[in-house]
Amino acid sequence: MSVRHFLTLTDLSPQELERLIQRAIELKRRHQAGLIDEPLKNKVLAMIFEKSSTRTRVSFEAGMIQLGGGAIFLSPRDTQLGRGEPIEDTGRVLSEMVDAIMVRTYSHQELEKLAAYSSVPVINALTDDYHPCQLLADVQTFVENRGSLQGKTVTWIGDGNNMCNSYIKAARQFDFQLRICCPEGYEPAASLLEEHADRVTLVRDPREAVDQVHLVSTDVWASMGQEEEQAKRKRDFAGYQVSPALMNLAAKDALFMHCLPAHRGEEISHDMLDDDRAVVWQEAGNRLHAQKALLEFLMARRG
Ligand code: CP
Ligand code: NVA
Repeated sequence: MSVRHFLTLTDLSPQELERLIQRAIELKRRHQAGLIDEPLKNKVLAMIFEKSSTRTRVSFEAGMIQLGGGAIFLSPRDTQLGRGEPIEDTGRVLSEMVDAIMVRTYSHQELEKLAAYSSVPVINALTDDYHPCQLLADVQTFVENRGSLQGKTVTWIGDGNNMCNSYIKAARQFDFQLRICCPEGYEPAASLLEEHADRVTLVRDPREAVDQVHLVSTDVWASMGQEEEQAKRKRDFAGYQVSPALMNLAAKDALFMHCLPAHRGEEISHDMLDDDRAVVWQEAGNRLHAQKALLEFLMARRG
């Protein structure tokens, strides 16, 4: 059986993603009922973090323990990666020792390189271009609260960043319409927009963008690695803040999501996370359950 990776949402078919979300919901229910599922007994996940993380690290590590296995945290500071060992060599070596590799890094191409040289599944835990694991949790959260996303309209407000790119791929895989609302100069790659022109539209005015939509999602204005642009971005994104007043223009039963960490007073108003429409804590918690379903899908099938 050939190895499967999860570098973007298109590495799984829409049917596989659908089953994965249902499995995540089932694993969550079983976990909350105190039942133990250990399909990954004695399996090991290596976790390479070249950027900071709270949710991703804890959810993958806790998830592996709950599934009967274990996880090893690796940072460039304490590994040979930080001293220039090529990513290809790292992929080959780790493949000899562990059952899957999770990576949070800058360059998506570096991740692809590692996957090409790895004989065990590689999982994208965020690159500059994509954050597919977050989308699994976001979709699970929507399904739990409102049912399928199929045929719904979602608005992405803010930077055309890794999260936005993953929402674009999600629109295709989960069959919804996506409105992207960003200031000029912060659009996602034109090629990605063209490729998804049948379901993604660019709307400049936030009020128009959220009109009657079913889900509004946003993210920080300056991502990890863009710290020096923070002041300029703060100026450029003024007017793109999500607030309860903006949410009032969305559909009556609209939800608000944010992958977190959030910056109150910037991309969201101070009171946005306390609004009933915000489901961000459930969304963060679902990182655990969705990734457990992903780990099981990628690792348990290898026997
Ligand atoms: N949302 C998310 O990926 O959070 P962390 O950066 O804390 O992992
Ligand atoms: N766009 C953000 C997401 C953090 C989870 C970043 O890349 O820093």
